[in-house]
Amino acid sequence: MTTKEKLEQLREKSRRVELGGGEAALEKVKSTGRLTARERLARLFDEGTFVELDKFVTHRCTNFGMDKVEIPGEGVVTGYGQVNGRFVFAYAQDFSAVGGSLGEMHALKICKCLDRAMSAKVPIVGLNDSGGARIQEGVDSLAGYGRIFYKNTMASGVIPQICAIMGPSAGGAVYSPALMDFIFMVKKDYAQMFITGPQVVKATTGEEVTAVELGGALTHNQKSGVAHFMADSDEECIDQIKNLLSYLPSSHLEKPPVVPCNDPPDRREENLLSIVPDQSNRPYDMKKLIKMIVDNGEIFESQRLFAPNIITCFARMNGQTVGIIANQPLYMAGCLDINSSDKAARFIRFCDCFNIPILTFVDVPGYLPGTQQEFGGIIRHGAKLLYVYPEATVPKITIVIRKAYGGAYLGMCSGQAGADIVMAWPTAEIAVMGAEGAANIIFRKESEEEKKQKIEEYINNFYTPYQAASRGLIEQVIDPRDTRPYIIKALKMLANKKEERPWKKHGNIPL
Ligand code: HXC
Repeated sequence: MTTKEKLEQLREKSRRVELGGGEAALEKVKSTGRLTARERLARLFDEGTFVELDKFVTHRCTNFGMDKVEIPGEGVVTGYGQVNGRFVFAYAQDFSAVGGSLGEMHALKICKCLDRAMSAKVPIVGLNDSGGARIQEGVDSLAGYGRIFYKNTMASGVIPQICAIMGPSAGGAVYSPALMDFIFMVKKDYAQMFITGPQVVKATTGEEVTAVELGGALTHNQKSGVAHFMADSDEECIDQIKNLLSYLPSSHLEKPPVVPCNDPPDRREENLLSIVPDQSNRPYDMKKLIKMIVDNGEIFESQRLFAPNIITCFARMNGQTVGIIANQPLYMAGCLDINSSDKAARFIRFCDCFNIPILTFVDVPGYLPGTQQEFGGIIRHGAKLLYVYPEATVPKITIVIRKAYGGAYLGMCSGQAGADIVMAWPTAEIAVMGAEGAANIIFRKESEEEKKQKIEEYINNFYTPYQAASRGLIEQVIDPRDTRPYIIKALKMLANKKEERPWKKHGNIPL
């Protein structure tokens, strides 16, 4: 063969792989409204930066006539490139090639991506669209998943792992996403996640449920809390992933990137004076309050629809990424419950892994009472928050806006939980519990008149930040308008914070 012929052979082989399952199969995928695997990667990476790896990998299964079946690219496109100028590894499963099913070699391509991303200390993005374990390969495909799970676990806390569900994801296929840091889902009928599909559910429990009800984007963003973000289309989903990456460092060895900021660091915000109602049982929108403080009012919210009584979001302060956890008085008065504790704890751990300072905005009347919560294990779920704040060594700044009652005061990063700076607005109420509840316990033997008087005394003593401030439990009582400048000053002061922990294999977080 001449060099020219060899070059032609390379071109032909490449063309064959790039066609995936063939033109007809690709058209079938597109007819559902999906982008193809290669179109998805093209949208993710900066133009001309994608380098494909392992393009010519093939399967070696011979069962059920598979030796005669060609699966170009093994049903997954893998490689690296740049996203807004920063290196990222990615893989995109190609549904046109045998349903993007995962066989031994398909899995090894994904594993190599994870290995290289770990060596290079750059994030990995997985674009999932697969019928699951390739049935013909038997245990080889199961072992493939096992290898991926192992590598996901090793990569946890070292590089950001992000995945998007852009097609079916059934059986064991859901667990690699679940082991990663963030799951995006496209809100289209083709994107579903479940352990067992509707037919198996019907056969085993008798329940009738559609695939979308069981495992669609809304289900996992709102009910189960499995997914963190939802997008209306493939394009929007990939744009959201790029936005998330812009907040994150490439690995645990780096700090998050700092972007130029045109929002003045010393900006006083007049509207903060009127946001909290005078009556302490009236709700207000904590998200509005946060937006008045952060750079340009921009937040990037994780799990927006799940446990809305707590807000978890990324934002920037003077160009620097922060992770924000805030009670939301608009839902359940901002109470902590099982789901909100799980949601916040995982977010806090992510921030701590990746050197993202934590801001905690507090307005919490306590843990949600009731049998549903107690039987569901609020004690062990609520304990997660008590565990993750002291565990975190990043800068931690807490701002008490209004209520900080009881165990929930301790759960929302008080000074004793390791906050570096606690600020309180003059509207702060720091007490073991609300006045009415307290009166029913400690003043219940008093006459109505005396009880009224005592409640007033309780309110005067505890519905202020000053008892806590007098013990040095709060470092600053501030004019609400100064919240942004004070947070930025504290972040600057804490820029080189370094806190050691005793050596151990790992802690035993209550799960
Ligand atoms: C081999 C598969 C496959 C699989 C799909 N295909 N899934 N081949 N193994 N798991 C093939 C189909 O045979 C078909 O091939 C092509 O991919 C496209 O599939 P269709 O069924 O035509 O597509 P569609 O109608 O869109 O349905 C998609 C689907 C369905 C809902 C995903 O294919 C399906 O139910 N697949 C099986 C899902 C599943 O149960 N997977 C195993 C989960 S258990 P042709 O040649 O006809 O085009 C698991 C265990 C792992 O994953 C545990 C690890 C811990």
